[in-house]
Amino acid sequence: MKILVTGGAGFIGGNFVHHMVNKYPNDEIVNLDLLTYAGNLETLKPVEDKPNYKFVKGDIADEAFIMDLFEKEQFDMVVNFAAESHVDRSITDPGIFVTTNVMGTRVLLDASKKYGVKRYHQVSTDEVYGDLPLDRPDLFFTEDTPLHTSSPYSSSKASADLFVLAYYRTYGLPVTISRCSNNYGPYHFPEKLIPLIISRALADEELPVYGKGENVRDWLHVSDHCEAIDLILHKGKPGEVYNVGGHNERTNLEVVQTILKALDKPESLIKFVTDRPGHDMRYAIDPAKIETELGWKPKYTFDTGIRQTIEWYLNNKEWWQNILSGEYANYFENQYGKR
Ligand code: NAD
Ligand code: DAU
Repeated sequence: MKILVTGGAGFIGGNFVHHMVNKYPNDEIVNLDLLTYAGNLETLKPVEDKPNYKFVKGDIADEAFIMDLFEKEQFDMVVNFAAESHVDRSITDPGIFVTTNVMGTRVLLDASKKYGVKRYHQVSTDEVYGDLPLDRPDLFFTEDTPLHTSSPYSSSKASADLFVLAYYRTYGLPVTISRCSNNYGPYHFPEKLIPLIISRALADEELPVYGKGENVRDWLHVSDHCEAIDLILHKGKPGEVYNVGGHNERTNLEVVQTILKALDKPESLIKFVTDRPGHDMRYAIDPAKIETELGWKPKYTFDTGIRQTIEWYLNNKEWWQNILSGEYANYFENQYGKR
């Protein structure tokens, strides 16, 4: 099998490339990534010399380039992680989210159709379902929950999902979609809540918590997400959507307090700041379909996963400190002021 993984220099794509290269030595894994601010080849160091791994730099929205690549490589499967992924950035600069997340997906779908790809998998998000109220803990997102997006990011991801499903219905392209809750774990870019808090707490810097910190996210360790995508690729049914989540709901404040306790840092570092516009209140996934139909089960609880993650950040300071001293420093300065 020759498998194209797009966005494999990012957080989840990078973890997925590690997973696939190591687990399937007879498959060829081609990692296509534009290396935007979020792409980092350092993440691929552990696999870069493996004979079944190859990196290609390029843009999923560049149609001529993508068509050439597909003609040359004749991929059997495509797994699309490539995206602009940060909600806050989508609020200040929505245009690139449409270009990459919507138009890029359309280009990959056309190339997959033209070159007879046997499976196209779209990595989507629970954010396409909008949010749930805090006072209804009995409610969860199922695959049948209507799409009801809040941010330019989630709107772009929902648009992409609709194109993916249209290519199944209209052209018979064998597609699958996974909609996952918030991931955390190694190689997570430090603009996102968990690595942001770990890196700033270690430097005794203020920890920005939006609003009152009462918004709820349903955390899933990235390696459990990678296992789920692997299962869907090999056993999932074309045309189907699978929700992925591990029943690990926490308020943002609880997440921050857990990290502070593990690092032995004071809660006085917490600073409540202006809320994110349109901030989704609660995400919570019902994973019954992937559990019963494909036998998926997460290995990590939030407690074991957050400990492993904090440990990784303590042991891999160079990885994230290189990022903090680069272009990202300017973004952070605009968001929260000088470090
Ligand atoms: P990320 O921002 O860490 O990585 C995105 C990668 O895509 C980067 O390596 C970047 O260089 C690359 N990229 C961006 N534009 C590109 C383009 N035009 N062509 C080629 N490559 C391009 O993102 P992530 O958090 O790893 O998310 C990966 C995917 O999973 C995204 O599709 C996201 O919507 C989805 N997702 C993320 C989460 C989460 O919690 N992080 C949860 C559910 C779904
Ligand atoms: O649910 C899946 C989604 O999870 C993915 O589709 C997105 O790509 C991914 O970025 C993530 O989106 P969130 O907006 O939930 O993640 P983020 O880490 O940006 O924020 C998590 C929560 O923490 C959210 O309620 C906002 C809050 N937050 C975030 C930051 C960066 C803060 O309170 N302070 C912060 O500085």
